[in-house]
Amino acid sequence: MAMYEGMKADQAAGAGSNRRRMIDLRSDTVTRPSAGMRQAMADAEVGDDVYGEDPTVDALQAKAAELLGKEAGLFLPTGTQSNLVGLMTHCQRGEEYIVGDCYHIFHDEAAGAAVLASISPCPLITDDKGGLSVDAVQMAIKADDPHYAISRLVCLENTVSGRVQDQDTIDAIAEMAHNRGMSVHLDGARLMNAAVASNCSPAHLARNADTVSLCLSKGLGTPVGSVLCGPRDFINRAFRARKMLGGAMRQVGVLAACGLYALEHNIERLADDHRRATRMAEGLSRFPSLGVTHDPDHTNMLFVEPRDEDHAPLLEHLAGEGIVFAAQKPAIRLVTHLDISDEDVETVITAVGDYYAKAGKSLAAAGS
Ligand SMILES: Cc1ncc(COP(=O)(O)O)c(C=O)c1O
Repeated sequence: MAMYEGMKADQAAGAGSNRRRMIDLRSDTVTRPSAGMRQAMADAEVGDDVYGEDPTVDALQAKAAELLGKEAGLFLPTGTQSNLVGLMTHCQRGEEYIVGDCYHIFHDEAAGAAVLASISPCPLITDDKGGLSVDAVQMAIKADDPHYAISRLVCLENTVSGRVQDQDTIDAIAEMAHNRGMSVHLDGARLMNAAVASNCSPAHLARNADTVSLCLSKGLGTPVGSVLCGPRDFINRAFRARKMLGGAMRQVGVLAACGLYALEHNIERLADDHRRATRMAEGLSRFPSLGVTHDPDHTNMLFVEPRDEDHAPLLEHLAGEGIVFAAQKPAIRLVTHLDISDEDVETVITAVGDYYAKAGKSLAAAGS
């Protein structure tokens, strides 16, 4: 599916010098590094980070840890590896983590914790906003019985499908888990969106999680990178797990420089992405058969669910206009990001309107 989506965007963009700029709404991972970010890469001071000698990586790790209110940070190539290193450092073989069934760690990371680390997932059904309840997590914690896996870790996520999670519930789950001798890892791939949307510091949102993984390559707009943050002794142990997984990189300050640039320039502007998602949802709501879902807590995402017969023709029409929607079914996730402007939002609304106007005319013609 991901392969199909990629080919589709490329085909729609065309080839060589005729390549046109696309309005790509599939994900906030599709951004290209800005001129300022590329300059920061070019200017980065670097060293061999496996020897701990890259000053730009050190600066990024320190900055991320400070923002998230943790003692230390570790730079990793991806959010998937950051989560896996976190799980491997929290849990031993035969232990388990409790997690929402739609969370990325459980659902979208190729079962890495089970395959590579013999850590067992205990997935729980989330509510319609992506949340878990304290009671459900508490009930899932296993008794100390040799028949059972050892419940070691609770994994939470914020945002979930763009939705800011209820902080009181996160805090209550964390408190209960800690009282039961467990740790809490937060997949904060888009925690900065949650922080900006709820006008809270990221450190406040993460304060009851032992460890947090923050992605730099989503709304923050870097080409690569995540930072795992937590207590210093935890991060020292995580260093070994990263090495084991092949994630220890050398003069990687050129990439860390993008992350530093993003943390300095691209956090507050997430509010623009949220405003644009809201505006797009308002504009698209004019077409009832598009089935738009967007609540105020949805940050930079909205969802549309076109009727089955419209699904392929709508996407084809939009591709012809230089607009890429993901080919998911039935609901399609639309994501605003650094490379989507106010004008792009209006272009999308107009193009969808044109599709429904044409579809209406051909229906009328077929009926006449
Ligand atoms: C919530 C969440 N966590 C983790 C990841 C993994 O990040 P990466 O693609 O860098 O491995 C993603 C990726 O989209 C995500 O959405």
